[in-house]
Amino acid sequence: MSRLVVVSNRIADPRKTAAGGLAVALAEVLNGTGGLWFGWSGKIVDATEGDDVHFMQAGPVKLATVDLSQVDHDDFYLGYSNGVLWPVFHYRLDLADFDAGYIAGYRRVNQLFARKLMPLLQPDDVIWVHDYHLIPLAAELRALGCQQRIGFFLHIPLPPPLIVAAIPGHDWLIRALFAYDLVGFQSQADLAHFAGYVESEAHAQPLGDGRWRAFGRTVHAGAFPIGIDVEEFTQLTQAPEAMEMYERMKREYSRRRLLVGVDRLDYSKGLPQRMRAFREFLQKNPDLRSSATLIQIASPSREDVEAYSDLLHELESLCGSINGNFGELDWMPVRYIHRTVARARLPGLFRASQVALVTPLRDGMNLVAKEYLTAQDEEDPGVLVLSRFAGAAEQLREALLVNPYDTEGTAAAILLALQMPLEERRLRHQAMMKTIRQYDVHWWCDSFLNALQEAQAEEKGTS
Ligand code: G6P
Repeated sequence: MSRLVVVSNRIADPRKTAAGGLAVALAEVLNGTGGLWFGWSGKIVDATEGDDVHFMQAGPVKLATVDLSQVDHDDFYLGYSNGVLWPVFHYRLDLADFDAGYIAGYRRVNQLFARKLMPLLQPDDVIWVHDYHLIPLAAELRALGCQQRIGFFLHIPLPPPLIVAAIPGHDWLIRALFAYDLVGFQSQADLAHFAGYVESEAHAQPLGDGRWRAFGRTVHAGAFPIGIDVEEFTQLTQAPEAMEMYERMKREYSRRRLLVGVDRLDYSKGLPQRMRAFREFLQKNPDLRSSATLIQIASPSREDVEAYSDLLHELESLCGSINGNFGELDWMPVRYIHRTVARARLPGLFRASQVALVTPLRDGMNLVAKEYLTAQDEEDPGVLVLSRFAGAAEQLREALLVNPYDTEGTAAAILLALQMPLEERRLRHQAMMKTIRQYDVHWWCDSFLNALQEAQAEEKGTS
């Protein structure tokens, strides 16, 4: 059997429950299959300290990590990955910082990863690379002679061709995807944008069945919406930490309706827009005012990137003015928490809330939507208000879908959610749970790896 080698910038100890969609999903995959997980250690070191690989055995998974120097971290992680690719791929050209120096750092770190990973590879390995930080990794590995199967999965959206085309050097970037055997996206919309880009900008030849030929190689591409480990999350919901949280929330809000939002503090999550919609709801429904509370957890993220600190101030001022204008002596409409809350407590909070607000302006998938539904009591489930611009909206059609830019429409959906009759809540919840169970994290992993195996078998057959 082949060994699975997963490569991602952010990695986590799979034996510990961490926060963050990508690292949690990969930990669950690797806990099942075993294998090697290669990535950044999370440490920034002096350039003189060398670039040794650190190893750690974590159950069935071997972790191999490298440190980054300050300049590599600034140019690769803060600069190109999160100052260029993240905003552009989330349709925010206005927030991109196209500093010409960043791309060299991006290339340098991808070369470092390739150089350090290459000696660790075995001939039968299957390599699975994750996310926008590492798009050129396969090309760098191929340049060192790597012949193994390599797949790539993009966890964030891929915007339409003309938005990608605004990135200086976009042709180099997308060309790099042709070094993979299989490229996976979260949604059909992202896949359509990929097809549009490679056909119009790279003049790739569509071969049918999700295959395109360009630059002397054939790449397979498909949509593989990521899921959660339903069993693991159900267990987490029943564990003491979550139960205790649930009881506490129920006691504290026994006479109130609870709405919840859990996000990284990121401009793609539509947090100011969400606050404005909640304010609109409070304004329009004075009778419901003092009975609803929104708990918004916004965990700190990428604080060294300017756009993130601007957002922090905007959100703090919105929460302050909502509480100032609508609060009573014994009630505050918004509880805003700018900290990371332990993952083990979240299911308790989810289960105690009548409504979840998952309203990103753009999101690759959004696993909070799936976790919220999984944590619900199926006899008396809460309601999911979901942005139509989250990848999850392609699958969770029974959510209350909203346009997060439409303040009045989102406020109306909040009211609808709070007033939805039990029977309708049950039906919607049941339908969505069926999808969440069917397309769980194991389906995601198996369907991607099977497609990768087939892609390479076909390539070998035709060459
Ligand atoms: C998103 C990205 C991941 C990233 C995570 C946390 O989910 O798709 O690649 O790891 O955010 O962001 P960070 O910058 O802390 O790794």
